[in-house]
Amino acid sequence: MDLGLKEKVVVVMASSKGLGKASALEFAKEGATVIVSSRNEESASAAAEEIRGTSGNEHVHAFTCDMSKAEDIKQLFHQVSERFGRIDVLINNTGGPKAGGFDNMGDDDWYAAFDQNLLSYIRTCREVLPFMKEQQFGRIINVSSSSTKEVIDGLILSNTMRAGMVGFAKTLAREVAADNIMVNTVGPGKISTGRIAELNEAAAKRQGITADEVLKNTEAQIPAGRLGDPAEFARTVVFLASAANSYVTGQSIVVDGAFLKAL
Ligand SMILES: NC(=O)c1ccc[n+]([C@@H]2O[C@H](COP(=O)([O-])OP(=O)(O)OC[C@H]3O[C@@H](n4cnc5c(N)ncnc54)[C@H](OP(=O)(O)O)[C@@H]3O)[C@@H](O)[C@H]2O)c1
Repeated sequence: MDLGLKEKVVVVMASSKGLGKASALEFAKEGATVIVSSRNEESASAAAEEIRGTSGNEHVHAFTCDMSKAEDIKQLFHQVSERFGRIDVLINNTGGPKAGGFDNMGDDDWYAAFDQNLLSYIRTCREVLPFMKEQQFGRIINVSSSSTKEVIDGLILSNTMRAGMVGFAKTLAREVAADNIMVNTVGPGKISTGRIAELNEAAAKRQGITADEVLKNTEAQIPAGRLGDPAEFARTVVFLASAANSYVTGQSIVVDGAFLKAL
């Protein structure tokens, strides 16, 4: 299957590590021009260099952008459009919000999660849609969580913001489908990244067991018997963001090895 990604300009937010980085690598392997970004200039540059080396694609560039800052987002897309003249694919991704339940969160926590995990995705769409409409081609993928299908106890901010993201994406997909712009949401179940290691450490402390034991307990709940690999998540993203996907839009799917029971 020809994914039609050669020479497309792909912007992957929060891509110095984890799912964003794995996605950037798969796009690079397809011959796209890839923009890697994160809050930290050094880690974004290191990721871009590693991806260039692994993929053999020289067109991988690093930029700095904190998704919780409106000005950073504006600046990034200004630089990208000046330098590359088009934007074909946007992968919306950012760091996870603070963990905790209702009693742990004050207004500041709610506003911070809204800025970083929902408004950020709206702001990036505002930047790329004029290009995509002009080109009559665009693909937007929102990285979310399995909490879009089944809430996760102790992650009230994530559960709330991701639900909003799905409502936003579905509505936007209907508004822009006639312009050949597809908007989809992809949620990781349990994919082996730094974020999962962090959550496992926190769970280990709460439960008085080791992080390794938390991992084993998690794997026992996943019918596939293991965590997902970031590349497995990334390949799903790449298909949905490719020209080969010309009719799947407005969907919210999970990559989870059959972890969730929700239909
Ligand atoms: N892995 C899973 O199974 C899983 C499950 C459910 C949900 N998720 C969600 O999926 C997203 C990605 O997770 P991951 O597992 O890939 O996490 P990760 O391995 O911790 O990587 C997070 C990436 O986001 C960047 N980042 C963090 N905050 C940022 C911000 N405000 N602006 C720009 N970049 C930022 C980090 O780079 P810098 O530090 O350099 O900025 C890093 O590159 C998160 O929202 C997470 O909650 C993941």
